[in-house]
Amino acid sequence: MNTSKTKDSYKIAVVPGDGIGKEVMEATIDVLNALDIDFEYVYGEAGDECLEKNGTALPEETLDIIRQSDACLFGAAGETAADVIVKIRQEMKMFANLRPVKAYPNTNSLCDEIDFMIVRENTEGMYIADEEEFTEDGAVARRIITRQAERRIIDYAFNYAKENNKSKVTGVHKANVLKKSDGLFKEIFYEVAEEYPDIAAEDFYVDATAMYLITQPQNFEVIVTTNLFGDILSDEGAGLVGGLGLIPSANIGEDGALFEPVHGSAPDIAGQGKANPIAMMLSAVMMLRYLGENEAAERFEAAILKVLTDANILTGDLGGSATTMELASEVKNNL
Ligand code: NAI
Ligand code: MG
Repeated sequence: MNTSKTKDSYKIAVVPGDGIGKEVMEATIDVLNALDIDFEYVYGEAGDECLEKNGTALPEETLDIIRQSDACLFGAAGETAADVIVKIRQEMKMFANLRPVKAYPNTNSLCDEIDFMIVRENTEGMYIADEEEFTEDGAVARRIITRQAERRIIDYAFNYAKENNKSKVTGVHKANVLKKSDGLFKEIFYEVAEEYPDIAAEDFYVDATAMYLITQPQNFEVIVTTNLFGDILSDEGAGLVGGLGLIPSANIGEDGALFEPVHGSAPDIAGQGKANPIAMMLSAVMMLRYLGENEAAERFEAAILKVLTDANILTGDLGGSATTMELASEVKNNL
């Protein structure tokens, strides 16, 4: 993810979206502005409110803003999420979905040593959603696995491991049952592994992985898997480390990258200043690393870590009573 393309200034597409998306975005931009990097923010509309106002949940203008940016920060959409975020991923060919799972202090984590990255294929597999009813009482869904797309994501995972001093990559599949499709995935996994002799490779079936994530989460470093399995395992990962307010993500492609918290628009707490902005902030930290701004990323992440360690200014989901913007101020104080 380190592209080392550090520039004097960056054009950032900012799509706050709906509900708490707007609140966590405001808090995150507040901290980014304190980092002494020249960001030009270009705001775009998307989501439920945008649909109401403009008759479309994702205007072409917003896609253009994203296309012309160095990176995009996305908050959350509401009911239109599938029409917004899935469409952006497809339009921008963002093939890699990265979801780090990391235990932070004073959170409800299963154990303190959890720190791994899930690298999920984002363009094929089950989520091409090619479904058909063949009788009134039956339907079929096709799942596509291609050498080209799986090689690209597996290579991305090994390269990520290499660049981030990880010693092992775990390939996850169900090749004992899905012999042709996941059989191909497993074959390609070990082909790519040979190109990275310094990084250990192991593979597990997805069902066993679901258990190992609970019994020995500290043994994982990088997991690479197909679309549906990655979606399921990454939510299991969120459950391992204390919930949605803390989990960032990145969507990376050849034509651009988008950084977003895993959570949605949270209508139950929206508009009350209660949302935890840390998932959005950690997404911005991933963006800084993507841009090659590693020093700023370290500063931002360390400031968040200090807020969690001190545990004085925390939002309600973490047992505190601070507002979204109070937490942002505390992060700024710690920079
Ligand atoms: P959600 O993630 O919005 O909320 C689930 C629960 O977690 C709620 O109780 C919420 O209050 C809490 N929560 C989430 N983020 C939080 C934060 N930062 N701080 C404190 N608490 C937080 O998921 P839900 O309720 O299933 O969906 C609500 C809406 O969001 C739906 O319209 C859904 O379509 C949309 N959605 C959008 C996504 C996206 O834009 N990427 C992803 C998931 C859902
Ligand atoms: Mg999911």
